[in-house]
Amino acid sequence: MRESFLVFGAPTIGQEEIDGVVAVLKSGWLGTGPKVAQFERDFASYKGVEAAAAVSSCTAALHLSLLAAGVGPGDEVITTPMTFCSTVNAIVHTGATPVLADIDPVTLNIDPAQVERRITRRTKAILPVHFAGRPLDMRALCGLAEPHGLKVVEDCAHAIETEAQGGKAGTFGDFGCFSFYATKNIATGEGGMVITRRPEELARIRRLSLHGLSRDAWKRFSAEGYRHYQAIEAGYKYNMMDIQAALGIAQLRKVEAFHCRRVAIWQQYQEALAGLPLALPADPEPGARHARHLYTVLVDEARAGISRDAFLDAMTTMNIGVGVHYLSVPEHPYYQKAFGWNPRDYPVAVRVGRQTVSLPLMPCMTDADVADVVAAVERTLAARGPPASDRRGAGLGG
Ligand SMILES: Cc1ncc(COP(=O)(O)O)c(C=O)c1O
Repeated sequence: MRESFLVFGAPTIGQEEIDGVVAVLKSGWLGTGPKVAQFERDFASYKGVEAAAAVSSCTAALHLSLLAAGVGPGDEVITTPMTFCSTVNAIVHTGATPVLADIDPVTLNIDPAQVERRITRRTKAILPVHFAGRPLDMRALCGLAEPHGLKVVEDCAHAIETEAQGGKAGTFGDFGCFSFYATKNIATGEGGMVITRRPEELARIRRLSLHGLSRDAWKRFSAEGYRHYQAIEAGYKYNMMDIQAALGIAQLRKVEAFHCRRVAIWQQYQEALAGLPLALPADPEPGARHARHLYTVLVDEARAGISRDAFLDAMTTMNIGVGVHYLSVPEHPYYQKAFGWNPRDYPVAVRVGRQTVSLPLMPCMTDADVADVVAAVERTLAARGPPASDRRGAGLGG
């Protein structure tokens, strides 16, 4: 067994990140400032768009994008049951009602056919997630949105590097929202970004992210001289700090190298785990670029001879950090109570949510770390009892 615990989702931090943060600490300007502006420019350039707005998290990015899309009380927004609760909470915080559409069992992405069935007169927007970094079928989703005049907000929390259908994730819909949370493909600890084609909506998102103050209010203490500002609307405290942006600038420079390492680890898992009684993730479609944020396997107790939760415990006991992405949204008590959701109505997401395990997938992993994970999976499954069907057979026979 490995001696030290392999932390799930640990960021890959080098001297460049440390130097960047130290420079900000010494600069006297910790809050929103020139580093945030540079990170926005760098990120916009990476995504091939005109501009981007940095915020404090992807949750903030989603919330502000929905507000900029005009979503509010009385509206419905269709999203996926296979996501982190922040996707749904961003809708709830606008006053609109979230509506779930089940996922495709292979891609684990929202199923456009299910989305179509959920569109009503009150539907204002669709909020799909590029799950694990696998590209959504944005052509199909935008094709559904267009005739109904719906806005599309892409949750790209997992999908910085994702591309498909001739475009980059976050550039198909009206808004693309990204996360730089500590475990994400590039990490600033906490942080998020919005991209959109419409400059006036980006300007509104910037304003809303800093109390609704007039443009460039963050410069009020700068060397350019004191700037008066005005509150244009009641905004939020969703701005990013220069300390975070310094991390982001250094991380973004490495994103392609990180991606190559993610692809290699993913492939090592696919090959090493192929013969085991687990469902492995589907390979990306030809021509698609999967960001490989998560490597998720499904542990079906009837096949694997071990429950998902016992699998998680066994891996942790062997010093391997694992994750669950995600317990499906309709299984959470708050949403059941608030929206009357019944897990039976989302059978694919609920099954996946009960079987899924995320194995560590970080660029900082060595080949030896990958081998440790594989060995722990093998040992966990080897220690299992016979599959449930055999157990039944033995019981009947004996
Ligand atoms: C799919 C998805 N959407 C949104 C978020 C929210 O991101 P953040 O933590 O940056 O607010 C996450 C974070 O884990 C996520 O996985």
